[in-house]
Order: sequence, then C-alpha cells, then structure tokens
Amino acid sequence: MKQNVLRVLALSLLVSTAFVILTSLSNAQVARDQNISTTTIQAAPPEKTVEQVFKNIKVLNGLPQSQFYPVMRFMAASLGTQCGFCHVFKNGQLDSPADDKPEKQTARVMIKMVLEINKTLAQGNPTVSCYTCHRGRTSPQGGPTLPQPLPSPPSTIADGATPGASARTAPHSTPVLPSGAEILNKYITAIGGRTAVDQIHSCVIKGTTSTSSGEFVPYEADQMTPDQAYEAFTIQNVTYERVINGPRGWLKNYSGMTELIGQRLAEQKLSFPLFMILRLKDQYASLLVSAHYFDIESGLLRRRISYTPTMIGIIPQQTDFEDYREVEGLWLPFTIRGYVDAGSPIIIRKFAEIKLNVPVDKSKFNKPLPPTP
Ligand code: HEC
Ligand code: HEC
Repeated sequence: MKQNVLRVLALSLLVSTAFVILTSLSNAQVARDQNISTTTIQAAPPEKTVEQVFKNIKVLNGLPQSQFYPVMRFMAASLGTQCGFCHVFKNGQLDSPADDKPEKQTARVMIKMVLEINKTLAQGNPTVSCYTCHRGRTSPQGGPTLPQPLPSPPSTIADGATPGASARTAPHSTPVLPSGAEILNKYITAIGGRTAVDQIHSCVIKGTTSTSSGEFVPYEADQMTPDQAYEAFTIQNVTYERVINGPRGWLKNYSGMTELIGQRLAEQKLSFPLFMILRLKDQYASLLVSAHYFDIESGLLRRRISYTPTMIGIIPQQTDFEDYREVEGLWLPFTIRGYVDAGSPIIIRKFAEIKLNVPVDKSKFNKPLPPTP
C-alpha cells in the first residue's frame, strides 16, 4: 500500500516538468457551484451519514456514507499503515466496530483534535489533516532533520554581478505559461478538432478492468451525450454496475445499490471516459476542485487530479490517460489508470475497442435491478 503511494509521488515528480497544469476555480466559486448542484438535484433522497449506517460511530458523525471508506484509507495512508493498525481481526475478519485497540481510541482523539483545529483556524475548512503532521508515519517528526542544508550565498554575488542588482532582471526568471483557454483549444485540436468532437453522440467501449487483487476481468461501457452512461463488470459472480441518467445515478456492488447524488454524481459522471475527455471545457467552467495536466508537446490530456474535501482532510484522486489511439478521426486514450485514493489499489482500464456513434441499448440507463443474494 505504502509502495503505491510512493510510486504516485515519484511519478508526479517525474512528470511535473513536462506538463502544463490547469487548475480549476477558486474555492469560493467551487463552493457556490456545489451549492447549485446540491439544490438543483432534488429527485434523489439525501445521502445517509455514517452514524446511520455503522454501529459504533462516536466522532465522525455527519460524514456522508460515500466518504467513509475514502476517509479510512486516507487515515491509513497518512500514517503509513493499514486498517489493522487501528482495527482488530477476529476469525480472520476485520472486526471494525470493536474498540479493542488503543490506536483506535487515539485516532478518535486525533479526529476530534483535527475537527477542533479546523473549526478554530479555518472556519471549518479541512486545512489541517492527519497527513499535515503524520506524513506517512505513525509518530510524527517533532523537529527538523539535521543537518539542515547550509544557506546558499546570495545569487548576485555568486554570479559575479554587482551586489544589490535586482534578481528580477534575470532573463530566464519566470517562464511564460499559456492561458487556460489556449491549453484547452490546443487540446481540442490535438484530439481531432471541434467539429469531430461535436459530432459524437454515443460511444461503446469493450475492454478489461483490473480488480483489487490485480487480475483483469471483462469490462464494458456505453455512453450517450449529453449525460447518460452505463458501465459493468463482473468479479466472482457479482456484477458491478454504474449508471448515470441525467440528474440520477446508481452504483451497484456486492453490498447493494446506492443512489448517486450531489457532488458524488458529478464526480462519477466524470469518471466515464468520454465525458471526462470531451466535456473538459464544461468541466473547467462549472466544476469541482480539480487540476488537469496536459502534455506540452502533443497537447493531450495526461492526468486529472480531483480533490474531495472531507471533515478530516482533502482527499486527492488521480486519473492518468495513456495509449492514445485514433478512432474515426479522434484521439482517445485506450488505457486509463485510476488512483482512487491514497492507499487503495490502482484501477487499470484497458480498452480493446471504442466505437463511436453506434446504436446504444437505452434500457441500460434505467435504474439497475437490485443484486440477487
Ligand atoms: C488510524 C486509525 C484507523 C485506521 C488506519 C482505520 N480506521 Fe476504521 N475506524 C477508526 C476509528 C477511530 C473509527 C470509529 C470512528 C468514530 O467513532 O466516529 C473507525 C471505524 C471504522 C468502521 C465502522 C465500524 C462500525 O460499525 O462502527 C469501519 C467499517 C472501518 N473503520 C473500516 C476501516 C477500514 C476498512 C480501514 C482500512 C482501509 C480502516 N478502517 C482504517 C480508525 C481507523
Ligand atoms: C497536529 C499534529 C497531528 C495531527 C493533525 C494528527 N496527529 Fe496523530 N499524532 C500526533 C502526535 C504528535 C502523535 C504522537 C503522540 C505520542 O507519541 O504520544 C500522534 C499519534 C497518533 C496515533 C497513535 C500512534 C501510535 O503509534 O500509537 C494515531 C493512531 C494517530 N495519531 C492518528 C491520527 C489521525 C487518524 C489523524 C487525523 C484524523 C491524526 N492523527 C492527526 C500529531 C498529530
């Protein structure tokens, strides 16, 4: 688990020099957009909070159910540990409601402290998280590591220039970055041009997806513009389905069916390949907190990182786009790698074929049938 985190870090360091980053709107705008999206989608019932779902919740009260496992994984990753650091195993199973371990009790104290700090210092924004102090260790480092680097001599003297000459006059100080609109236009041109993009109304994908144990199973996805999507794969006789139908959406897995609402619906919609790729401009104009990374040379989208604010910290999620190939005049990624959140397994989708503008069975966008036990 820790290795994954390290690999992601290393990867982002490697690529950061080659990509131009486009970050979306200010927090204020994002907050406003989120308000809009939660008030306009009234069709779905409100999401349950964790104390309505789990047995022994004392401090995470009010946390939406969908954020619960991401938060657990975020805590584990922040401390560089796994579930078993705080939870006991009984008969080979995680007995998560049990309070046997002192680490779980300490974690409750820590959660309360984090909520308190953010309430006091940041008007409730999750500015301070477990990671702020822990940085991947169970006991945070209390002081700076010695030896500290020696301060380098002032650059003016090192360069042999007159002391006092302004460093601002150096010719190569700040590279001029293209504007957001320029990057998006270059991207649209790179994938095939506005006309080709506008002509797409449906898309059928067949391929494979990795599972948490690392094997690959068949995967299919169907999408229709502007906002219908269906996705399915089967692991050990359990069919996982994800459906978006305009303002409604559903997620079906081994534990049952959940209705997707609010920000979660918007996020899930964006995780469908076509919407993520083609609706980039709308995303940028309307959206959730996210950053997009484009290849400077080709102009193609390489990475998207989105941030989910939760009570105990802002949880990043990363998606990488690889293996771009041409389909009817449009360049589309045939491999999509998702780092759902720090500490969870990487999900790899490899597409064998992508067909554009073929008929789609519309009944797939209906609410899925509940799983058979
Ligand atoms: C740093 C400690 C820590 C780690 C690591 C951790 N948890 Fe937890 N977990 C807690 C605490 C504390 C609670 C209780 C929260 C509360 O009281 O509001 C909890 C509660 C839970 C519950 C609810 C149990 C119930 O029915 O009341 C589940 C399920 C759970 N954790 C699963 C996990 C899983 C799965 C992982 C690994 C991905 C994990 N946890 C990692 C500290 C941890
Ligand atoms: C302000 C800094 C800070 C923040 C933020 C913080 N911690 Fe800690 N945490 C500490 C320190 C310092 C210790 C070590 C305490 C000690 O050694 O007695 C510690 C210890 C712990 C321990 C006990 C480790 C052990 O080896 O027994 C757990 C569990 C823990 N923290 C979980 C969390 C979780 C979960 C969060 C986020 C909800 C969090 N901490 C946020 C500073 C912090």
